[in-house]
Amino acid sequence: MATAEATTSAKPKKKRGFWRKLADMIMLLSVIALAGAGYAYIKFFRIVPQDVCGDVEESRRDQVCTDMAEEWFKYGSLESEWDRGIPYPLFHALPRVFADLLPGPGGYRALGIPWEQGRELPVGFSKKVMGFERITQNCGVCHAATYRTEPDAIPVVVPTGPSHTTNVMAFLDFLEAAARDPRWSADILIPEMARNFDLRFDDKLIYRFAILPIAKKRILEQAEEFAWMHAEGRPAWGPGRDGPFNLTKFNLVGLEDDGTVDNADFPSIWNMSVREGQSLNWAGETQDPLAVFIDSALGLGAPPERVTALMERMRTFLRAKKAPKYPFPVDREKAAIGRVVFNANCADCHAEGGTYFGKVVPIEEIGTDRERFDTWQQEHADATNAKAEEIGVFRKDMVKDIGYASQPLDGIWLRGPYLHNGAVPSLRDLLKPEDERPEVFWRGCDLYDPVNVGFVSTGQSAACPRVFRLDTTERGNGKGGHVYGTTLSDEDKDTLVEYLKTL
Ligand code: HEC
Ligand code: HEC
Repeated sequence: MATAEATTSAKPKKKRGFWRKLADMIMLLSVIALAGAGYAYIKFFRIVPQDVCGDVEESRRDQVCTDMAEEWFKYGSLESEWDRGIPYPLFHALPRVFADLLPGPGGYRALGIPWEQGRELPVGFSKKVMGFERITQNCGVCHAATYRTEPDAIPVVVPTGPSHTTNVMAFLDFLEAAARDPRWSADILIPEMARNFDLRFDDKLIYRFAILPIAKKRILEQAEEFAWMHAEGRPAWGPGRDGPFNLTKFNLVGLEDDGTVDNADFPSIWNMSVREGQSLNWAGETQDPLAVFIDSALGLGAPPERVTALMERMRTFLRAKKAPKYPFPVDREKAAIGRVVFNANCADCHAEGGTYFGKVVPIEEIGTDRERFDTWQQEHADATNAKAEEIGVFRKDMVKDIGYASQPLDGIWLRGPYLHNGAVPSLRDLLKPEDERPEVFWRGCDLYDPVNVGFVSTGQSAACPRVFRLDTTERGNGKGGHVYGTTLSDEDKDTLVEYLKTL
């Protein structure tokens, strides 16, 4: 500018014109740049507040969306869109283009994921606009049960129950197989997406040159991070289970694979008000529900600076949420007798006021499969605590305890298969001596078996088309231990089971 002013006296008009022009050009360029930023902002980052019932027709909203806290649990965002969001059109197209890579017909349902009638997405999946509609996952993926009272019944979805039908490993495998498939190409995927979504010219360019290659890269990176789950000697999770503590060790903290097996059942997470101050997780690694929520949400990609606030909201919901009632008739008289049997044999660990209620029972005493217990050592707790602090998350420290935790048994009828590894199919089987419990059974069917009190587990059938064979002789799948009640008379067992239905 100084030069310009110094020269203005000589050829003022021309010079001024020149600088004006230059200034105008700079203005124009910055306007273009700003418009570009605005375009990028609208395309990629503009956040639209989420309406978790937005997919329900206006006329049905009053019936369907009665409990908005629950709708949030099922379909709400944990704000992980930035990190994990997959574009909705792509999410929608994948099971159609790669139907042959799924374990059966029915799209994502083939993976056992609960899907409520008339809803746009399966339970546990959130859709939120961050520039474009992005799909992420929430707690409902692993914590939403379904059951049918008869083969033709519409499955009842119970948010906060265990997702015993959902095969998370198969879901991850499906994504990997799709990303490795030669059909993962713009020429095949874009026309498929365009069948259901309005894709403009620029959208198609963005899919072709950015989203599809990036999504593929991310999925393959993720597959690499999860390669340990397929390692030799690690039995498949199957539906209703995952490897939560190795996930923490290997994926979240980045520790080396130590060859341990930690297959664990998805637990129910209702009625959390009772769990304050108790040992949580199967082997009591955490003693504060909020800390479990926070770690779980971080695992789902929730941003560290938002995670505590989000999980405080979650805590309010989970404290108030009650276990569902048994959906078949109960013989109240019989149950009342069973209560006495329960008080004599079980209450010390499973009822309020009991010595071990909500506490950890030493591994030698409980005697159930110890692989999950041995997976986690104090050094892993220390490393995880340090990692949490490093990313600026402050929650109660994790520990290594001495066995498995005994929890309240509310809603126990819906929590099968039983024990931390889900190795015993029904309550009646749990009350049998160890060697009389089934050695092999089938998991993942949501048809209820009111005789044995658990889910139908006898194999594939028209009512249970996609089930998983669980072999209890495999590592981490042991059916032994927890022998309480196994020597009771048949009559006592009968009344006890009747009582357990009422919890
Ligand atoms: C990918 C599956 C998965 C997702 C997603 C998930 N959890 Fe879990 N959750 C588990 C498993 C498996 C366990 C049992 C862990 C173990 O082995 O102790 C568990 C345990 C828990 C427990 C302890 C229950 C008890 O009785 O001790 C709570 C509470 C919990 N999860 C809450 C959440 C919340 C809140 C979210 C969402 C922010 C969430 N979980 C997301 C799989 C999942
Ligand atoms: C000494 C304490 C203790 C006693 C007594 C006891 N339990 Fe347990 N129970 C536990 C522990 C600990 C676990 C978790 C073990 C595991 O998952 O490996 C458990 C697990 C269970 C489960 C499975 C929970 C689930 O979500 O899968 C059921 C069902 C159960 N107990 C019922 C009973 C009944 C019925 C009795 C009485 C006949 C009883 N328990 C007596 C400590 C006890």
